[in-house]
Amino acid sequence: MIEHPIKDQGHSKTKKLFILIALIGATVTIVNYHNLYQKKLDVKRFQYSASRNIPPFPAKYHRGFLVSSSKCKIIDLDPFNDEAMQFHSAKRYQNCTKRQLLTYVTKEDNVATLHINTSLQSAYSLKNIRCCYSNIIRDSDGEYPDTTINISMCQEFTNSVLISQDPVMVNCIDDDGLIYENVHIAVTMTKSIEDKITKSKKRRPISLLMIGIDSVSRLNFIRTMPHTYNYVETNHWIPLLGFNKKGDNTFPNMMAILTGLDVSLLMEDKICNPYIFGELDTCPMIWKNYSKLGYITAYAEDEPYRVAFNYAKGFKTPPTDYYFKPYVLATQKLSKGYTYIDGLSYCTGPETAGERIMNLANDFSATFKSYPYLGLFG
Ligand SMILES: *[C@@H]1O[C@H](CO)[C@@H](O)[C@H](O)[C@H]1NC(C)=O
Ligand SMILES: *[C@@H]1O[C@H](CO)[C@@H](O)[C@H](O)[C@H]1NC(C)=O
Ligand SMILES: *[C@@H]1O[C@H](CO)[C@@H](O)[C@H](O)[C@H]1NC(C)=O
Ligand SMILES: *[C@@H]1O[C@H](CO)[C@@H](O)[C@H](O)[C@H]1NC(C)=O
Repeated sequence: MIEHPIKDQGHSKTKKLFILIALIGATVTIVNYHNLYQKKLDVKRFQYSASRNIPPFPAKYHRGFLVSSSKCKIIDLDPFNDEAMQFHSAKRYQNCTKRQLLTYVTKEDNVATLHINTSLQSAYSLKNIRCCYSNIIRDSDGEYPDTTINISMCQEFTNSVLISQDPVMVNCIDDDGLIYENVHIAVTMTKSIEDKITKSKKRRPISLLMIGIDSVSRLNFIRTMPHTYNYVETNHWIPLLGFNKKGDNTFPNMMAILTGLDVSLLMEDKICNPYIFGELDTCPMIWKNYSKLGYITAYAEDEPYRVAFNYAKGFKTPPTDYYFKPYVLATQKLSKGYTYIDGLSYCTGPETAGERIMNLANDFSATFKSYPYLGLFG
């Protein structure tokens, strides 16, 4: 969906493999691996202080090359060079709501509960508040199950209510009308996942968590996410310098990451035609291999109407064990507090679309921290 080049990677020390990818159009890829590379790579190319001071580099920016081989040379540009900085302006974080969230979800012993934070009621309305929730399900019977959700009748509840693994949409009204709405989800262990885990009780392999940030070049990553950049540098994550995007928009790059192949090759070799509804499901996505090995798989992407896999209306059946598209579709149906920034939905209700994805990644990886998983969140 969006464009821009370049990825980064890094490795370091946990049993997990974290990948911060620049999926999508292009982006930033960071891998955090254990002990694979003890040798510190020469990634300390510039000292970056978290303040936005422009480091004192000579105006002539090439201090060397990121990639230098007989076939390819990529200049190591100073991210803060004057030419770039002319066009760079930092944007402030914006809150999607001035108040704390009126509803939240807790989990205990794999049971999820939706709560109203009653101590916040007066902050929302001095009148009587009534809340109800609906279950969100993928319309698996419909013509386009990947882009359609069914929203059940709204059930009134007070204080708290148990919820299933489906996302829930919450609406609260007072005498004057809608005062709050949100969508929640809790990642819980399902029966089929339990079976999968018991079947694969061999030694525990490393897990893989990939975080994709769309449309962020390596240099923009350094400019716009100084703390994250600082973190990955300090921990010696390995940047995959020179691994740039291979095509325009999110889709061809995602397919390359997930299948190792170019979309045109997939089609030429009659492996699958992702542009035909139903065939995207048959493409050799890497999560299938992991799933066969007993990994629990997850996939989430914001911007459900523009995402990588909306070609030919997406997946006929959910491609991963945990597939958050119905959740994300539901968040896009929230009317209150919906805000666009640069053509993308920034606020979906009282939360930012981006933080929602990060929260899913957090919930998923924490829930399955003792099991092998492959999660891709972008
Ligand atoms: C946004 O709102 C949250 C919760 O109300 C608050 O903790 C945070 O400081 C706010 N951030 C900004 C930048 O206003
Ligand atoms: C409920 O709201 C109060 C503020 O009135 C806040 O201190 C508390 O952390 C909230 N609880 C949860 C679980 O969000
Ligand atoms: C979703 O709603 C449509 C229309 O009411 C219905 O035909 C369909 O069976 C529902 N899908 C599921 C999975 O319940
Ligand atoms: C994934 O599985 C497919 C089908 O079994 C196989 O052809 C492919 O080589 C596997 N990919 C990797 C990276 O092992």
